[in-house]
Amino acid sequence: MKMMTSPEDALPCDLISPVNGELLRPAGRNLLSDGERLWPHFDNCFYLRTGRDDLVDEVVSLINRDERDRALGLLLCDRRSPDTPEADLRQVEELLRSEVSFHDAIELLGYGGLGWYFEHRWIIPTYLSGLSLLHRHVRRNQRILELGSGVGHLTAHWEQDSELGSVCSDVVFSHLWLSQRYLRSGRTSLCFDANGPFPLPAGAVDVAFGHDSLHYLSDIPGAIAEMRRVASSGTLIIGHLHNAEAENYSAGQPLTRAEYERLVDASAVYDDSELTLAWLQQRRPRPLGAAHGRSVAALAFVEEALTGEETARTGERIGHACGRHPAELSGLMVNPLLSAGSPVWPSRKFVDEYVQAFPYLENLRAPGDAEVARINRGEANEAEVREWLANGVLVCPPDNWY
Ligand SMILES: C[S@@+](CC[C@H](N)C(=O)[O-])C[C@H]1O[C@@H](n2cnc3c(N)ncnc32)[C@H](O)[C@@H]1O
Repeated sequence: MKMMTSPEDALPCDLISPVNGELLRPAGRNLLSDGERLWPHFDNCFYLRTGRDDLVDEVVSLINRDERDRALGLLLCDRRSPDTPEADLRQVEELLRSEVSFHDAIELLGYGGLGWYFEHRWIIPTYLSGLSLLHRHVRRNQRILELGSGVGHLTAHWEQDSELGSVCSDVVFSHLWLSQRYLRSGRTSLCFDANGPFPLPAGAVDVAFGHDSLHYLSDIPGAIAEMRRVASSGTLIIGHLHNAEAENYSAGQPLTRAEYERLVDASAVYDDSELTLAWLQQRRPRPLGAAHGRSVAALAFVEEALTGEETARTGERIGHACGRHPAELSGLMVNPLLSAGSPVWPSRKFVDEYVQAFPYLENLRAPGDAEVARINRGEANEAEVREWLANGVLVCPPDNWY
């Protein structure tokens, strides 16, 4: 992907129109053109969602009248589907005016249950399975495109140690904008519907990655074909895919293992919970045997074209919980969910969905104040700190998160 330094309005990478496939070109501040229509962008988040013509027309018209805050506000109100009421524009304008924490931002955006999922993503077992996959199957400086990235925690983790920019994408603009404001400024984020054509040229990134998101698509085969088109290394990683043969919370429109395997030429298939356990134990995950998987709640598939030498090397790619050596991390703190000593979970759904499936969560305990002071002086036992980082007892949140 061609990266540019950023004179005002230059594009950070080549983008193509999801409607006519033409290269998008700058067309004045906050606007791109595909020769037929204009597409808005703010703060490196590009709104390329189709089926939203009225919204795009209104936003473009506001930009042309120099009413940019209102234009951005309208994009931030947009939701995944009409089933969820739009955010309240006055609350969103408050978000734009003030320097609120991430916690307050998701309140102002009216995220509900999705809010605690994003706020506490670092302790959720399905986040750990995503880390396991990335560290096992992506080489250090490979650029990823994450589909359905939400606020982009997994991509942000990946970017800590990578010199090249990765790309987040989601159908909800506000998720990407929050990522840019709170987690990782400067990254390119693309708002588009992963059911449709991806607004990137062929081979634009090294690896295409989707985690806890593809089962929400109505056109999973189309999305996988697009992932293959944009991933220059030929590696596709699809983690935490719900299994149609098992019970699931927030199920989406899942397929069975056999159906997924007809779409992905899988070099590895995993039980997603095995990936979580492998991360907690900082070891290689064990693939799922061919005869298993019917009762597994969520699966993960990897399609990769590796040379023999690369296959031998992938075994070494087990990274560490925060990407870096604990001594390099500043701002480590005890996860606020454990500040009472033992866990206080954010909702009943959290307990049903995660704690029951992963009982280790109930046994997590926070280190005491003296231990935390030792950690911050770099004097604590490294193995212990790594374990606390891996399981989310310790977090290193960005400024202004909680
Ligand atoms: C459960 S979240 C997972 C977020 C992230 N992948 C993670 O693991 O932290 C699912 C995400 O998929 C996104 N999503 C759902 N349907 C989508 C679509 N049609 N195109 C792109 N993203 C979609 C949602 O907006 C949401 O952010």
